[in-house]
Amino acid sequence: MVNLKCQHCDYRWDYHGETEYYATCPRCRYKVKIPEDKVGMLRQRRLNLELKSRLSMEKKPVKLYGIAGIVNKIIEDYQYDESMLIQILLQLQKNFGWLPRDMIGEVSKQLEVPVSQVYQIATFYKIFSLSPRGKHLIRVCIGTSCQVRGVPIILDRLQSLLGIERGETTPDLKFTLEAVKCMGCSALGPVVVIDRDYYGSVKPAHLEKILSKYE
Ligand code: FES
Repeated sequence: MVNLKCQHCDYRWDYHGETEYYATCPRCRYKVKIPEDKVGMLRQRRLNLELKSRLSMEKKPVKLYGIAGIVNKIIEDYQYDESMLIQILLQLQKNFGWLPRDMIGEVSKQLEVPVSQVYQIATFYKIFSLSPRGKHLIRVCIGTSCQVRGVPIILDRLQSLLGIERGETTPDLKFTLEAVKCMGCSALGPVVVIDRDYYGSVKPAHLEKILSKYE
């Protein structure tokens, strides 16, 4: 807004228009030339308005669907704070079961952090999985004590019953088989842990019955 004076009738008024060179006097309709020093103010005002409108368009919430929507909901909960990247990935892993490539890309895009940084974290911590995980996680201890107590035979039998190798997931996404080093109960070896259930002194003959509990 600039204050103008009509060069014809001396009427003064606050000009809110956008034209930078001439304004029409509201009283006598005379075309008033806008003084040079006020043109700059008008120009600045127009630029501010344009910037404001562009920013409001950029901030307009966009409804995201699919993986982008899942990621967006969690990132919003963490207020787009990139320092919470690990927590965001943990939440996604918990909700989704694993971190697909598209999801990693979305996290990088929405948090505005390099995709390499997201991969670095997702591959550094064992808790994250970049491939689908089964509903039940079977962990077989391959620590020294379990090894000498016969875990290789247990592992072989499990692989044959499930039809997968260690580190893999059954095609029906029911089981994921992992080998881990010492579960902290070596005296009970061989040890197999399914989800949160511990099975000690496991014999190959026990395995079918144990697995049937998770069918
Ligand atoms: S070595 Fe198997 S539980 Fe420790």
